[in-house]
Amino acid sequence: MSSMLEFDDKAARAMEAMYLTPDVVGQRARVIDMLCPRPGEHILDIGVGPGLLAHDLALMVGDAGRLVGLDMAKPMLTMARTRLAAMPWAECVEGEATKLGFPDASFDAVVTTQVFEYVADLPRALVEAHRVLKPGGRILVLDTDWRSIVWHSSDAGRMERVLACWDDHLADPHLPATLGASLRRAGFKVVRVEIVPMLTPHWQPRSYAGGMMHTIHGYARANGAKHGLSADEIQAWYDDQLRLIERGEFFFSLNRYAFVAMA
Ligand SMILES: C[S@@+](CC[C@H](N)C(=O)[O-])C[C@H]1O[C@@H](n2cnc3c(N)ncnc32)[C@H](O)[C@@H]1O
Repeated sequence: MSSMLEFDDKAARAMEAMYLTPDVVGQRARVIDMLCPRPGEHILDIGVGPGLLAHDLALMVGDAGRLVGLDMAKPMLTMARTRLAAMPWAECVEGEATKLGFPDASFDAVVTTQVFEYVADLPRALVEAHRVLKPGGRILVLDTDWRSIVWHSSDAGRMERVLACWDDHLADPHLPATLGASLRRAGFKVVRVEIVPMLTPHWQPRSYAGGMMHTIHGYARANGAKHGLSADEIQAWYDDQLRLIERGEFFFSLNRYAFVAMA
């Protein structure tokens, strides 16, 4: 049984901090490079979150363009609205990825990063994204495949059990493997796919890996019992990471996958 993350105030602040680390700043640069936003374009950011990407996109489309950030979580919308406040051509709306409240052919581009992996009805979300895009418009979808993780541990079996518990926070922890086919079924033509790695080969507290270590620890403590994980085992997993950090033996690598497709 899935235990999705709650995107409440605390989660919004933790996510913002993690998304300001150099790893995720680098990811946004890659996304912007692949999406190639132009002045005057109308862009929809589905699952806008803290609004960091939306802020950069709004600057790039400029006041002749339009940037709409959509999210289902109020704390995220508050954060994104604050970030976009100085740009009246950028707005945030509350909404659901599977039921977009916009007319057909409203946008030149749709971007959605780290969102579709949370959506249970992906085919519906893709059909909706296709509908609101102008003919020939483009979508960029970026998500993580948690099977790509290489995270050093002194106890590989325990690491596997903790990560199996964490998989449960998503509707599909392996979305990228099937995303190309899903995009094609929704009527898109996939034109580009790239890996965006989150790589921390030696300990760095201000990193995506550093944030995930604490987030997964918290999630496992709240949800581990459902997966047969005892509190002692979860603590042993965490303490092992602290020991590896102390000994200079920390290693974390995880792949995200960015797909660009045309409507
Ligand atoms: C992991 S965050 C990513 C935020 C942002 N896209 C980024 O990359 O910085 C996921 C966001 O998607 C939103 N979200 C998840 N499922 C959604 C859905 N079905 N409809 C709209 N928003 C959704 C969450 O509220 C959260 O803000």
